[in-house]
Amino acid sequence: MRALPRLALAVLTAAATVAVVSATADAAAEPTPITVLTSDFEDGTTQGWSGRSAETIAHSTAVAHGGTGSLLTSGRTATWQGPSLDVLGTFEKGTAYTVSAWVRMSSGSDNARLSVERRTGGVASYDQVVGNTAVTSGSWVNLTGRYTVATDVEFLRVYVETASTTGDLYIDDVTASYVPALPIQTDIPAVKDVITEFPVGAAITGAETVTQHGQLLTRHFDSVTPGNALKWDATEPTENTFTYAQADPLMAFAKTNGLAVRGHTLVWHNQTPSWVFLGADGQAMTATADDKALLLARLENHIRNVAAHYGTDIGVWDVVNEVIDESQSDGLRRSNWYNVAGLDYIRTAFRVAREVAPHAKLYINDYNTNVPAKRDFLFGLVQQLKAEGVPIDGVGHQVHININWPTVAETKAMIDKFVPLGIDQQVTEMDVSIYTSSSESFPTPPADRLLKQAYVYRDMFALFRQYPGEITSVTLWGLADDNTWLDTYPVARKDAPLLFDTTLQAKSAYWGVADPSKIGASASASVSPSVSVSPSSSTNPGTGSCAVTYRVTGSWPGGFQGDVKVANTGTTALTSWKLAWQFTGGQQITQLWGGTHTQSGAAVTVGNASWNASIAAGGSTSFGFLGSWTGTNPVPAAFTLNGTACSVL
Ligand code: XIL
Repeated sequence: MRALPRLALAVLTAAATVAVVSATADAAAEPTPITVLTSDFEDGTTQGWSGRSAETIAHSTAVAHGGTGSLLTSGRTATWQGPSLDVLGTFEKGTAYTVSAWVRMSSGSDNARLSVERRTGGVASYDQVVGNTAVTSGSWVNLTGRYTVATDVEFLRVYVETASTTGDLYIDDVTASYVPALPIQTDIPAVKDVITEFPVGAAITGAETVTQHGQLLTRHFDSVTPGNALKWDATEPTENTFTYAQADPLMAFAKTNGLAVRGHTLVWHNQTPSWVFLGADGQAMTATADDKALLLARLENHIRNVAAHYGTDIGVWDVVNEVIDESQSDGLRRSNWYNVAGLDYIRTAFRVAREVAPHAKLYINDYNTNVPAKRDFLFGLVQQLKAEGVPIDGVGHQVHININWPTVAETKAMIDKFVPLGIDQQVTEMDVSIYTSSSESFPTPPADRLLKQAYVYRDMFALFRQYPGEITSVTLWGLADDNTWLDTYPVARKDAPLLFDTTLQAKSAYWGVADPSKIGASASASVSPSVSVSPSSSTNPGTGSCAVTYRVTGSWPGGFQGDVKVANTGTTALTSWKLAWQFTGGQQITQLWGGTHTQSGAAVTVGNASWNASIAAGGSTSFGFLGSWTGTNPVPAAFTLNGTACSVL
């Protein structure tokens, strides 16, 4: 199976935000959201909305998304002008809000964006909550995204703007909501304590450094990689104007908490502003001597500033990112960098980085390095450049993989290939998608995929741990499934590629790393995993047609979270199901996802949700819940499925 195709990533994503597929994508897997803001414009007023400048804001009944009223913005003279609302007293630092707005043009068409302006110490920053989305005058379009305020602010406004025109805009039915955070589990081993062969890291945005996210991060990880904050578009958006507003708070958090930092990345073909590649004449650069000299001068200036700004606080730099393209006969990516400067951009980048940051390990980083053709081109390039004296210290393997690809053997071959070069290797951006093609999409991660993912994490970490001399760190591309780039790449859908779920609780994937004995045995990740665990006859008190695994995945004073797996171990498929048990400790279910529940005293019954009603023979499904308890929280001793006793695993 081949890797998913990669799309251009020239999108500026704010450090503190993450786009999300839709508000409903997580609904089945998360507790009920709490709404903190509703602007429906049904009362004839502007409900506190105002312009960002001199534009006119007025209530309107010309069109409405729901009911009869909406909000009209007219007289716009710049694309950034639009309706805005003060949310300073509404949004709390560290909480991830889902913001939704309906937008429509009065005439014509454009792209609309949902944005936030925040100010700290009088300095303004602009975050994108939802990127450019096509809007017209013909219908209402929904913009939904997630936003977390990660720093202290004195000004916070959410607003709608457009990409290129200044026509009149309608908005309606704006809402903001959040899902109450669950406490992190403190009774499970820290990943960094279990994995002692090398430091383990996570890529972060501002959202990962606050409240429960910050606790989870520092509890389990040794190091961090700012996921976007050190890229060129964030650090030098216009020529020779360096801004560290995104990265500085992350670096300060790392320092305070003793986390090492991987610097990512000094040179890339994505997330690099277009001015970098414009010649002195304002035209796109070509391979002339003048353009090449100007481009390399800009590169040198960029690295001198950014690498010097952080000095010894950054111990490893991804100096160049994704320079290999195995579809080229010479294996070199035809980026703007290469087209103008040839290999000299790589030589210059390493030379300057070594000069400015002599303490730092300098890396060449790429994806799909397990693909033999790509791996071999990368090997050849590193060998050639090292022979020339280019100071390359290590090869970074991104390891964006999925539950079916690649095999452990292919990954082993990837590591083995570079050992003779005598350089360090790091796994820099690991995640394991639950999808195996771009056409799949699940509202909630299926239990069998999550189990298979756990086997992949188990087997890959077991492999990495066999190379303590070569692999000097392993970084995951994110902290928890609530904030992953795979929610929008390569297509918009909810993915779940990390060790912790959207409520920050440990997944089977976590146990695959921390204690594989907890996920049961499976020969290898490349073997199709069986989620129906056969009951052993000696411990089976039931009929053998169902097996239940009940797990408390988190517990805190008065509350707990549970996860229940129901396996159909019979020979006939179920078309609907009801699982019943007794809570003998007085526990009470407060919220449940992946099913519907009733509780009467101690008796609990959970019926299927519409999407998981059928369980094939040999298949399984899962649901989760939040509960309250007092005194003790005993695990139920017996379960019945559709009235028949099950074995308890
Ligand atoms: C991703 C970020 O995580 C996203 O937020 C951003 O929108 C696009 O870039 N390979 C890399 C990383 O080297 O920089 C990319 O990060 C993921 C793929």
